[in-house]
Amino acid sequence: MTALTLSTAGAATLRADALVVGVAKSGKALVVAPGAEAVDQAFDGKLAAVLETLGASGAEGEATKLPAPAGLKAPVVLAVGLGSAPEDGEGYDAEALRRAAGTAARTLTGTKKAAFALPISGAEDAEAIAEGALLGAYAYTAYQDSKNGDARKPLAEVALLGAKPRDKAHKAAAERAQALTEEIKRARDLINMPPNDLTPAAFAAVAQAAGKEHGLKVQVLDEKALAKGGYGGILGVGVGSENPPRLVRIAYTHPEAEKTLALVGKGITYDSGGISLKPAGHNETMKCDMSGAAAVFAAVVAAARIGVPVNVTGWLALAENMPSGSATRPGDVLRMYSGKTVEVLNTDAEGRLVLADALTRASEEHPDAIVDVATLTGAMVLALGNRTFGIMANDDAYRTAIHEIAEEVGEQSWPMPLPADLRKGMDSPTADIANMGERMGGGLVAGLFLQEFVGEGITWAHLDIAGPAFHEGAPYGYTPKGGTGSAVRTLVKLAERTADGEV
Ligand code: BES
Ligand code: ZN
Ligand code: ZN
Repeated sequence: MTALTLSTAGAATLRADALVVGVAKSGKALVVAPGAEAVDQAFDGKLAAVLETLGASGAEGEATKLPAPAGLKAPVVLAVGLGSAPEDGEGYDAEALRRAAGTAARTLTGTKKAAFALPISGAEDAEAIAEGALLGAYAYTAYQDSKNGDARKPLAEVALLGAKPRDKAHKAAAERAQALTEEIKRARDLINMPPNDLTPAAFAAVAQAAGKEHGLKVQVLDEKALAKGGYGGILGVGVGSENPPRLVRIAYTHPEAEKTLALVGKGITYDSGGISLKPAGHNETMKCDMSGAAAVFAAVVAAARIGVPVNVTGWLALAENMPSGSATRPGDVLRMYSGKTVEVLNTDAEGRLVLADALTRASEEHPDAIVDVATLTGAMVLALGNRTFGIMANDDAYRTAIHEIAEEVGEQSWPMPLPADLRKGMDSPTADIANMGERMGGGLVAGLFLQEFVGEGITWAHLDIAGPAFHEGAPYGYTPKGGTGSAVRTLVKLAERTADGEV
């Protein structure tokens, strides 16, 4: 894990393997961002000019490495773009700082220690830079030969210059960033783990171990307990696999908590589509179909580590969706945990089946709100693209609040409706409801299905993270290839706002 220190040392005097500075666009000119004054002095005040000569513009995502002049204790200076410089009197956008710090950390893969001399005008800036740097310092190498390791080792130590180690707010910001990013990286690791190893039982075992480590109560229902309890949705999805399903409850309680937030995660450890098999080209990345459960798990542990004064109960609905002689067929009817019957028209619409049981079960505990997180539909990816998750809810104010929280923590999201007219497309001649409806608006149809399994009077929101959960393009900012940890920051901030009574 990457270490984080706050340092009052000057940029010129701190020993490090690289010194990170920020640069921005100001009109047509490039300017050096605050925090790097001492570095600029070591360049005789010509750092901006030197960087322009090298072709730097200050654009977001840009990273320019140059040898340090005499007078600096680090051998290398790395200038990262922050985009447009803010207007007078305004600070840099937190997400611009987070992404620039992430770009710097990624560029410095294989480096031991980097000092970050980016603009810090308060604890929020320090937190954003720490988050970006720590999230950028990530590689998934568990299945690669350690011999070719060193050059790919993530940046090992981040020193934040300009952050004050004796300032309460700065210290708290650093501690929160460290805990939060470690858990986001834990979620990424789980998502990236190959599905032959991360079975439902293996995922449940990871949750149990984390529960022990952080004093959380973890209960696991195995396939026998699920059958006894009548969890027809989870069982129906998992019954075709050699790796049986699990339902995990992981609970964090705080002695002063006045509210309880329930989080429900889709945990399909591999989605082949089942008997409605996905065609080649659509299943290569389907190990990511447990990203919702990974996000919920990470958020519960992070909330516990941060000590948020709220109760957070995580529900991980874990199953592997495989075709076989024992698999659920299109046409089968499942009796769900709620008692409702569902005609399975397409076994690839499995996420809503496992979530339905978990939502009913979570509702039995009467939480103040339930938020489910799922890589639920390809339709949501078509609607919002690869970087934005959709938010649906049975309460407009709650949906808006979550959208605003996501924006605040630097996660792209958009509110989506639950149009009642789409419900009739799921009418079934045989059962209470079918697991598929109209193709058009498929993401919203899935949301409407889930809504039927939320307990009366409980505030509920649904995050469809099918787009941003798994990143197939080139890395950018603090976002690596593969599992991203999408929604964790939003969920943890939501827990904090729930504790404050603000949502
Ligand atoms: N896991 C998929 C959704 C998905 C697609 C996640 C792309 C990540 C990236 C889900 O189980 C699924 O297959 N949904 C179907 C539903 C349809 C059969 C009603 C879909 O979206 O096509
Ligand atoms: Zn599917
Ligand atoms: Zn799926």
